[in-house]
Amino acid sequence: MNKLTTVEKLDKKQIEGFFSEALNIEKTWPNLKKIGENKTICLFFWEPSTRTKLSFEHAAKALGFNVLDFSPSLSSVQKGESLEDTLNTLISLKIDGLVMRHPENKISEQIAKLLPKEVLFINAGDGNHAHPTQGLLDAFTISKLKNISDAKVAIIGDVKHSRVIPSLFSGLKKMDCTQIEFFGPKELIPSNFTPQKNDITENCLEGFDFLYVLRIQNERFLEDENLDLQNYIKNYQVNDKFLEFTNFDGKIMHPGPVNLDYEITKSVSNSNNSIILDQVENGLYLRAGILSLLID
Ligand code: CP
Repeated sequence: MNKLTTVEKLDKKQIEGFFSEALNIEKTWPNLKKIGENKTICLFFWEPSTRTKLSFEHAAKALGFNVLDFSPSLSSVQKGESLEDTLNTLISLKIDGLVMRHPENKISEQIAKLLPKEVLFINAGDGNHAHPTQGLLDAFTISKLKNISDAKVAIIGDVKHSRVIPSLFSGLKKMDCTQIEFFGPKELIPSNFTPQKNDITENCLEGFDFLYVLRIQNERFLEDENLDLQNYIKNYQVNDKFLEFTNFDGKIMHPGPVNLDYEITKSVSNSNNSIILDQVENGLYLRAGILSLLID
């Protein structure tokens, strides 16, 4: 297996293999075995990114890969070249791997099929379909603090437009997590994500180990979708008063980027219980681990 499009296609053993490799990499970082020597990875990002793109670049370079940075706005895409022709151009340039982010739902499945079998492919987020390495790094972060099968995880916010949640949900389930609950307004949580609670009641987060907060992903709202932001902030913003009212005393997670003072306040995001920056750091090790295991 050298193509990673979704977590759904992985089994528990493969996920455990990624986690174990990430732990080995963490121990030896930045002195990693140069398994990428004489190999080239292209970062093929059609949407903005900070942590995913830079952690892949940093991880790939630490493993000895050459890294090509494709940027659509500075490429011949601006002269009308199609995605498929761009892809064929990269293949002719003898890349060994492609890490792609794209706004179109499920495009990762098409790209994986278009690439030659020997070329590694990693989906770094496609539309609101999947973001497997984010879901896996979040599950990895949880696993470092608690047995995933015993972890009680609350997810709050814009699940509907999130590409991370399908990947995280699938990863946690495959690792035998049975206690996952969703919180937020009905219009932001599709009915297949259960159990869900649309009203925040006193002590409703008591006993949960992790609260995973999601940004309102405005860029993926359809034209006929809208949200009363002030109402959302009043009812669902994770702030000090919210934590006291819900009696939540676990760790705060967020995939980033954070929109401070919308879904979460600065004081909670920067608090001692926040592990948001640990998630970013774990992403570096996990992505290096995945690159190591998927490259030939
Ligand atoms: N979580 C995440 O994908 O962040 P970036 O958009 O900064 O890569």
